[in-house]
Amino acid sequence: MSKPPVRVAVTGAAGQIAYSLLFRIASGDLLGKDQPVILHLIDLPPFLDAARGVVMEIEDCAFPTYAGSVVTADPAEGFGDVNVALLVGAKPRGPGMERADLLKDNGKIFIEQGDAIDKNAHPDVKVLVVGNPCNTNCLIAASRAKRTNPRNYTAMTRLDQNRAVGQLANRAGAMPGDVRNIAIWGNHSPTMFPNYYEATIGGKMVTEVITDEAWLKGDFISRVQKRGAEVINARGKSSAASAANAAIDHIYSWATGSVPGDYTSMAVVSDGSYGIPEGLVFSYPVKITAPWQYEIVQGQQLNEHALAAIKVTTDELLGERDAVKEMIAG
Ligand code: NAD
Ligand code: LMR
Repeated sequence: MSKPPVRVAVTGAAGQIAYSLLFRIASGDLLGKDQPVILHLIDLPPFLDAARGVVMEIEDCAFPTYAGSVVTADPAEGFGDVNVALLVGAKPRGPGMERADLLKDNGKIFIEQGDAIDKNAHPDVKVLVVGNPCNTNCLIAASRAKRTNPRNYTAMTRLDQNRAVGQLANRAGAMPGDVRNIAIWGNHSPTMFPNYYEATIGGKMVTEVITDEAWLKGDFISRVQKRGAEVINARGKSSAASAANAAIDHIYSWATGSVPGDYTSMAVVSDGSYGIPEGLVFSYPVKITAPWQYEIVQGQQLNEHALAAIKVTTDELLGERDAVKEMIAG
């Protein structure tokens, strides 16, 4: 392979999401089948042996794009020169908890990792925060970015988008690939707003294909908002393979511009678009304008229902920001 290898860090490397994620990164699903990758597996010291076991299995897959691994608990070494950082390592919630209940324990991880990324990663590093509550953890990490670019710090709502696609396709008797332009607005939490008003199924507006408005406004939205809890209740553990798949989708779309429709959902540092306070990490519809370049889609007409829902999720994010104000670098 002629391309130089790209270094990809994954925290929480011994955890359940990582077990679904690392093999796909190594096999070329993240950055392309012609792009060699070096994996940086980061976890806490007691879990390094387990991470080394995962590396043994990756070697045993003989993927043509796999160019080696670093396994470490030291964030400076783990983020050294990395081009892409997937911040997965954090506590998951259990039954009966909300993701925001994790803020106190998980938030501090992102102070240390944000600092280590800013000091050690490639200056153009692209970051995806998966560990919950991912928007506000990303806000903490991005606030530490001085040498690196805070615009390159993003959080994951692609899983919510994919969930919305699945629900709409099921209801319409269509294939997931027929559903376009369903974007998640706001927080990865039960207040998120899947904006179906702009979405299409087979080229027709969702509202023309699914005429049961009560279902769209009611069960559809609440199913997407609470799908994480539904999976936890069924599995006893939070989603893992679908979360790993969404992380692959998020980075692959960002890196290549390949999105299902005109745009995709990414939680990014708000520039004030649509009146969302600047600096909040907020999920918007984003267009990928060139490899690794995104722009928030402008000019969407938001009706009263959408505006009210977006206010609720914005207020929740403001409350989370307030709860971690000591963790945010000035
Ligand atoms: P897990 O418990 O299976 O694995 C977490 C791993 O992170 C463990 O190996 C743990 O040792 C490691 N870890 C903890 N602190 C660390 C640190 N400071 N540095 C490096 N590694 C550290 O959990 P999981 O199921 O893989 O989930 C990980 C996180 O992802 C959770 O917070 C979960 O809620 C979140 N999640 C987010 C989404 C999303 O859509 N944004 C979806 C699913 C799960
Ligand atoms: C999800 O949406 O599946 C994850 O955020 C895990 C969770 O706690 O719901």
